[in-house]
Amino acid sequence: MRIGLFDSGIGGFTVLKKVIKLCPNNSFIYLADTARLPYGIKTTNEIKKIAEEISSWFRYQKIDAFLVACNTTNAIALDILKKNLDIPVFDLIGSAASTIQESRVGVLATPSTVKTKAYTNAILEFKPKTFVIEQPCPAFVPMIEMDNINSDDITDVATGYLQPLLKQKIHSLILGCSHYPLIAPSLRKVLPSSVKLIDPAEALSFKLKLFIDSKTSNYSKNKNFVDLKFYVTSNLKHFPNKAKHWLNVFPEVNLVSLQKKGWVS
Ligand code: DGL
Repeated sequence: MRIGLFDSGIGGFTVLKKVIKLCPNNSFIYLADTARLPYGIKTTNEIKKIAEEISSWFRYQKIDAFLVACNTTNAIALDILKKNLDIPVFDLIGSAASTIQESRVGVLATPSTVKTKAYTNAILEFKPKTFVIEQPCPAFVPMIEMDNINSDDITDVATGYLQPLLKQKIHSLILGCSHYPLIAPSLRKVLPSSVKLIDPAEALSFKLKLFIDSKTSNYSKNKNFVDLKFYVTSNLKHFPNKAKHWLNVFPEVNLVSLQKKGWVS
């Protein structure tokens, strides 16, 4: 199957990694909208426009399924992505919300995601009595993209963001931005061991696997390959190194303009 996914930058790598592990025998087309990173402080209208452009571009890529590997776009513009792509669309927020078991849940996410309360609303739909507290974390994405994650700085920032959630005695913590699993070790340092970390990509991968298994013959299930194609909207020079660092692949990366119409795959 050809599967498309996107993020503003390297955050979607955390989704790609989980999905490849569970569904290896497929082709993946990863788009990083690096020219407009970070998404997490953009307005609703800006994100909606981005969703229109990204879904238009993916329509030309002849994909069979689409993964919304960006929570911010998921929270604001899932309906636009679904409307423009007439293929199955798998999202992080809905997938994770349906699996939450704990009664007191914290969510770390971008400011634009938190404003929508998308996680709270989605969780309450499944478990109406759940207590959910959401915390915006504007500093994380720039620090992660600049690879400033091994110093004490990130632990200090994490401590500040987590304090209000720990005061509320959360039982689990949702990493509500796809960049955040990349700093899970720093978050773990600040969290009591009793607090469960939830990466929404896990639930998304299971849903995707069920879908693929229902559509794919045994023959293609047994082939062992992963085909990866990467596209960026800027920063062409540095992206292969980032892929090498986080995914251990050194791919060919292509530059695209999402504003241009009439792409060919
Ligand atoms: N990784 C994306 C998310 O899950 C976008 C982060 C950003 O660009 O601010 O929200």
